[in-house]
Amino acid sequence: MLNLGTIGTGWITASFIEAAKHSGKLKVTAVYSRTEEKAKVLADTYNAAHFFTDLNEMAGSMAIDAVYIASPNSVHFEQALLFLKNKKHVICEKPIFSTTAQLEEAYRTAEENGVFLFEAIRNIHTPNFAILKENLHLAGKIRSTVLPYIQYSSRYDAFLQGEVPNIFSAEFSGGALVDLGVYSLYLAVGLFGKPEKVAYHPVVLHSGVDGSGTLVLTYDGFVCTILCSKISHSEIPCEIHGEQGTFVLEDAAPISKIQFLDSHTKKSQILSVEQYEKDMVYECINIADIIENDHQDRYEELKNWSKVVLEITEEARRQNHIIFEVEK
Ligand SMILES: NC(=O)c1ccc[n+]([C@@H]2O[C@H](COP(=O)([O-])OP(=O)(O)OC[C@H]3O[C@@H](n4cnc5c(N)ncnc54)[C@H](OP(=O)(O)O)[C@@H]3O)[C@@H](O)[C@H]2O)c1
Repeated sequence: MLNLGTIGTGWITASFIEAAKHSGKLKVTAVYSRTEEKAKVLADTYNAAHFFTDLNEMAGSMAIDAVYIASPNSVHFEQALLFLKNKKHVICEKPIFSTTAQLEEAYRTAEENGVFLFEAIRNIHTPNFAILKENLHLAGKIRSTVLPYIQYSSRYDAFLQGEVPNIFSAEFSGGALVDLGVYSLYLAVGLFGKPEKVAYHPVVLHSGVDGSGTLVLTYDGFVCTILCSKISHSEIPCEIHGEQGTFVLEDAAPISKIQFLDSHTKKSQILSVEQYEKDMVYECINIADIIENDHQDRYEELKNWSKVVLEITEEARRQNHIIFEVEK
């Protein structure tokens, strides 16, 4: 059992703590908030023995082996580095960091200190992702793919009222592609690898980041189109079109349902299995297993996916002059 500390007191931290508990592999023993009252409430709610309002103290504490970071995107790097230097494993919410330079430095620091660094991405650790990958050959030669993640954010209401919530802010490294598009991007990179070419067509908000956008990834023989938005809503499923058949996924994350339609027989079959409703449980199980059993091959694969995903979002932003504050 790994002892875990958490950073951030948003709803996602509560979800992760519950998933960690459910996994039976991670135990939350400490929580951090910038505010003592919030730290106490979270610690009490989840029976964490320790609470901190000083990040240096938590990083140096023997009460934890690892930390889960769920703060605004722009502060992930500085916080991750602090814990890595204190020889704590780091599980950092997506998007892991703002730039590839930060990611390289953090992986180097993790290696120097003999600990692991993970990007917390729910969908790629699930049984249904493994099923999709194993069965991809059924589609034959892939000819096109559409992976939408279009979800209206309640925080856009505040944006329209003149506020700039962190997730719509360049100061906090926000935007639709890094927030939602990454789920689809992980599917693309996990299934098809690194694309040959990347082209991003965003709708840029007055805050300087993308409220929505279309990302076109060119692969050998096909194009994968990723649609992402936080300013509108859609029900369109993800689809992977091959010469022999088509996969239809209800969502990019969680991958709750996978249907395969055979182009020749016109028959369809459901390939997916029933998963935990909270798919973060799988991420907790896999990450704990990699740490505990030192699964270097699986770690290298995850590292490579994180690198490729960040390279793509960085290139997409570069093409459109979407510049985060940390880059200025
Ligand atoms: N995997 C998923 O399904 C999922 C879902 C939602 C979000 N996320 C990710 O989780 C992370 C947090 O998202 P969120 O929407 O909860 O973010 P948020 O509301 O902007 O901030 C999260 C927490 O960070 C702390 N915080 C706020 N502003 C800060 C600042 N300027 N400096 C340092 N700490 C600050 C706050 O906790 P205290 O006030 O207690 O310190 C806050 O509760 C993001 O990276 C996001 O992409 C993942």
